[in-house]
Amino acid sequence: MRILILILSVFLFVTGCSDDGATDAGSAGKASPAGDMAKQQTAVEAVEEVAVAIEDAGAADGKAKTMVCAACHGQNGISMTDIWPNLAGQKKGYLIKQIRAFRDGQRVDPSMMPMVKSLSDQDIEDIAGYYAGLPRS
Ligand code: HEC
Repeated sequence: MRILILILSVFLFVTGCSDDGATDAGSAGKASPAGDMAKQQTAVEAVEEVAVAIEDAGAADGKAKTMVCAACHGQNGISMTDIWPNLAGQKKGYLIKQIRAFRDGQRVDPSMMPMVKSLSDQDIEDIAGYYAGLPRS
């Protein structure tokens, strides 16, 4: 997913550069250095926006991966019943450790273990980051 976004940003950058070239050729003589600078600036800004989007993607991925968790731990990480713990606002490091422990069989709970069995370390990191960032109540 991230690799794709990265490729897209490189593509955008390259396209931005060649656009400049095409415009210069089309309006021969008219292109000013200032205009080129502005166009390059726009291309650079586009790439920067993609870079910010990549940063945000971690948290967004985390949210998407918690669809199944919401059934028990609540939409906002606040659970509906006494037997399911709240996750909102919990420490990220603790969440990572617990989710890994369920996944790897060190912490045993029949309702939790199947839920996290197929998560990668990256998934767990994203999910933990998402819950850690939610308000506690
Ligand atoms: C079927 C209900 C259910 C679902 C769905 C579920 N959980 Fe849980 N979860 C539990 C229960 C019950 C516990 C408490 C287990 C225990 O007592 O050890 C728990 C505990 C946890 C804990 C430990 C909390 C703590 O304070 O130690 C974490 C972290 C957690 N779940 C994350 C998740 C994530 C992430 C998902 C989704 C991928 C998920 N859970 C889906 C029922 C569920």
